Parts: sequence; C-alpha cells; structure tokens
Amino acid sequence: MNEEQRKASGQVSSSDKKSEKDYSKYFEAVYIPPSLKDAKKRGKEEVEYNQFQIDEQFQGLGNGRKFYIRTYGCQMNEHDTEVMAGIFMALGYEPTNSTEDANVILLNTCAIRENAENKVFGELGHLKALKREKPDLILGVCGCMSQEESVVNRILKKHPFVDLIFGTHNIHRLPELLSECYLSKEMVIEVWSKEGDVIENLPRARQGKIKGWVNIMYGCDKFCTYCIVPYTRGKERSRRPDEIIPEVRRLAAEGYKEITLLGQNVNAYGKDFEDMEYGLGHLMDELRKIDIPRIRFTTSHPRDFDDHLIEVLAKGGNLLDHIHLPVQSGSSSVLKLMARKYDRERYLDLVRKIKEAMPNASLTTDIIVGFPNETDEQFEETLSLYREVEFDAAYTFIYSPREGTPAAKMKDNVPMRVKKERLQRLNALVNEISAKKMKEYEGQTVEVLVEGESKNNPEILAGYTSKSKLVNFKAPKEAIGNIVKVKITQAKTWSLDGEMVGEAIEVN
Ligand code: SAH
Ligand code: SF4
Ligand code: F3S
Repeated sequence: MNEEQRKASGQVSSSDKKSEKDYSKYFEAVYIPPSLKDAKKRGKEEVEYNQFQIDEQFQGLGNGRKFYIRTYGCQMNEHDTEVMAGIFMALGYEPTNSTEDANVILLNTCAIRENAENKVFGELGHLKALKREKPDLILGVCGCMSQEESVVNRILKKHPFVDLIFGTHNIHRLPELLSECYLSKEMVIEVWSKEGDVIENLPRARQGKIKGWVNIMYGCDKFCTYCIVPYTRGKERSRRPDEIIPEVRRLAAEGYKEITLLGQNVNAYGKDFEDMEYGLGHLMDELRKIDIPRIRFTTSHPRDFDDHLIEVLAKGGNLLDHIHLPVQSGSSSVLKLMARKYDRERYLDLVRKIKEAMPNASLTTDIIVGFPNETDEQFEETLSLYREVEFDAAYTFIYSPREGTPAAKMKDNVPMRVKKERLQRLNALVNEISAKKMKEYEGQTVEVLVEGESKNNPEILAGYTSKSKLVNFKAPKEAIGNIVKVKITQAKTWSLDGEMVGEAIEVN
C-alpha cells in the first residue's frame, strides 16, 4: 500500500504524525497507532486482494538466526503463527523451541478477556531478564492485543525493552518490520487499525501433517457489545473460493486427513462478494467433493446460519456433523443487550432444524455468565436452555469488560462472587451432560483419526472422533495419521477408552 492509498483508507502514516518519533528516514511506514475510534468508523471501502511476495532485499535476512513464537488465543491466532513461521523460514530463519536460543521472539497475543492479557504482560516481565542478557535479541508483540491503543501505550511506558509491535493486519509486512528492527534503535510499531486486506500467497509452516487449518474469511462485523474482536481483526472479508478450494486440494494431496475452515463468523462467508451469490453452503458443497476424509468449520454465528448450509451439511460424507454454535446466554433480554441479534426461541428453532436434518449432529457452544446486571432468573434460563439442547460440550466464561466496547460502559450490579458461583453451577451441568453423553458410547465402535501418542502414556495412542471426542486406545504406532475403528470400553467425563477393532488399518 502506498502513501496515497493509506491516506485514502484513513490509516495514519508517519508523515501525518510529525509529533511522534520520525522513523521515516529509515523506513516508509512507521508510527501508526491503533485506534478503536477508527475501527468503529469503518465503512464499505473496498477490500484489496494482494499477493504476498518477499522483496529481494530481504532474502536471506534470517540466515544464521533463529525464531520462536509463543501463541495465545484462538485457532485464528494459531494459524497466524503458522503463517508467520512460514515467512520467517522463507527469510532463512530456523525455528527453535527455546527462548534462550532464539534471536527473535514473538508473542502472538489474545485480547478476548483480561486474564488472556495478564498472561502476556507476565511473560513480558520474564523476558525482560533475557533481553538484558542478550541485548541483540528482538522481542516482538503481535496479535490482537497490539490492536489496542491502551496496550501499545502500556508497553511503551512499562516495557520499553520491547523492540517491535505489529498488528493483525500487518503480518505480511514481517520482512520489512524485522529489517527495520535491525536498523533502528527505537521501538518499531506498525498497527493498521481499519478495514484490512486479503493477502494471498502467504507461506505457511503448518504445525501438523494430519490436521490443517484453512482461513476462509477474516474479521467480524457483528459487534457483540462485550467483544473486542471486531476491533482487533477488522471488517468481515472473505477469501475467494478459487483460493480456498485449491488450498484444500493441495492439503488433501499432501495427505492431510482433516481440514478446519476458519473464521470468526464463518456463516457470513461470501456476504461481501459483490460479483456473485456465494455463501458457506456453496463452498461446503464444492469442498465435499474433494478426497479428504474430514472437513469441519469454526465458528458459526447462529444469526447467519442459513437453510442452504443445513441442506448441504445434511449430505454428510466428509462434512462433519459437529457444529460449534455459540449461544452466549439462554435469556432473550441478555442476548438483546449483547446485540447477538437472535433470541432464545430463534436459537432453539435453529437447533431443531439442524437436528431434524442431521439427527446425529452434535452441538457444542460458548457461554458467558455474569454479563452486566444478569439476574438469577436470566442465569437460570441459560441453565434451562443448556438442558434442553443437551450440548456435547461448552466453553464457559465469566464476562470480562473490554475497554472500548459498549458493554464496558454498562453499570454492573453483579458481584464477582456471584459470577463465580454461576460459572461453577454451569460447569457442573456441562460436566453432568457430557458424562451422560459419553456413557452412551460404551460398547459402540467409532472411527478415530489417530493423532499420536497419549500425553501421559506413550504405550497408548490418542485421536478424535468425527464429533471431536478424545479417544485413548492401544494400537501399533503405524496407526498414527490414519482413521481406525475403535470399540469403546469405558467412558470418562471428557474422554473415551477403547480397543482398536481388527488388525487392518483403514487408510483413507
Ligand atoms: N466469533 C465467535 C467467538 C470468538 S471469541 C462467536 O461469535 O461465536 C470466543 C468466545 O469468547 C465467545 O464466544 C464468548 O463466549 C467469549 N468472549 C468473548 N468476549 C468475551 C468477554 N468480553 N468476556 C468473556 N467472554 C468473552
Ligand atoms: Fe465477537 Fe460477536 Fe464477532 Fe463472535 S460474532 S467475534 S462474539 S463480535
Ligand atoms: Fe483472542 Fe484475537 Fe482470537 S482476541 S480469541 S486471538 S481473534
């Protein structure tokens, strides 16, 4: 993006900020502070589709150097780390698992709740000592926290030893930013706060060879009142199917067995295409023809989950009938305050429709307890909805106010003690229903994608069913990477024990 384009899209460049430190003598871009205000004002500006390319001048920048990335947060961040690792390796850096060996350390951060942020500030405290020992070490902060003005200010004040801060829209600029760090004595900061582009042709150093992630869209326009993501990830923008489909085909050809399509709100996929009517249903209908055993997606927003998608998912095959469908609350009044744009009845209708089309579908969810002023009755409605749907599992959270979001301005009369009690009661119900559902598996035979040795016992292999149930069982190591049949002998609350059925391994 050149100076003109940056100005047109409202991003502030170094020349607009004369009062800030002037890095321009070294580099084109560089103090571009994050701004929630700008993010909220984003409009219908066109998304630019660009191709990633490493400029010749940066080739070999990492020769003889090692990188280490620590990842916090959701799958989106995990996958961004794979992209950044791919860029590092294309520049000649080698990966290392040890912070002591690393020449560059990046913290890929998450801003979703306060405790996620506290972990990162704690880690920065630890790394300060290492930075003192190794002044040439480059220490960077990226990911969602970098998009927050307050975080950048806090790092500038309290952690001035950090060398680099860059945002979620600046990942493809890693070569330029690293090169700038080697030249500059000052902290290098580049955070674009608006819109966001779609960058293709990014290298990816994937963590595994069995399961792979594929981005289908970026950003979120839902602006749920409690949530920071629409500010940290920019507006909803979809990758073109002719980029996604070949990527999935390539992974299938490389032997991957399971693909997870990623987006903050995958049901809005394609809504931003102006030249065609094409949604998640259309994409899934094409992907199911690819010879790969398992395809799943996350995360669904109930509001945009349409009938066409249900119809396509009901065709089954490699499209898994496990759907993560965050409900957040069982109370229509709380849902309204959260701006989720559906109520309890509509959510239950959607669940009914899904179960009619896919009787064996398993549903999982996310729930927030202790939203500002949530009453006991409203919380009871969440429990009753949970019982009614009988989710297989849930991620449960205590509401955490995020600066700049509308909910953070709401007065809250619910004491923390009450919020904690509610979380405990909800978790007890989540466990009870999970244990009951797991029990139903005893004696059944399931298909398991074998991922590797169990964490606690190398004699035992571990893998997941199509409904994401963890299964531990004895089998020869050759089973790793394949889908095998396992008879379940014992159910636990969160995992199943079993025995592999037959000698033959079914290779898909
Ligand atoms: N895009 C996904 C959610 C991503 S964040 C969706 O809409 O379903 C993952 C989960 O974190 C959310 O579903 C929500 O339950 C929780 N969460 C988000 N903001 C939160 C906050 N401020 N406090 C507590 N939990 C929060
Ligand atoms: Fe956050 Fe809501 Fe967007 Fe999910 S849909 S990322 S909860 S704003
Ligand atoms: Fe966290 Fe950002 Fe994901 S805030 S949950 S890492 S999108």
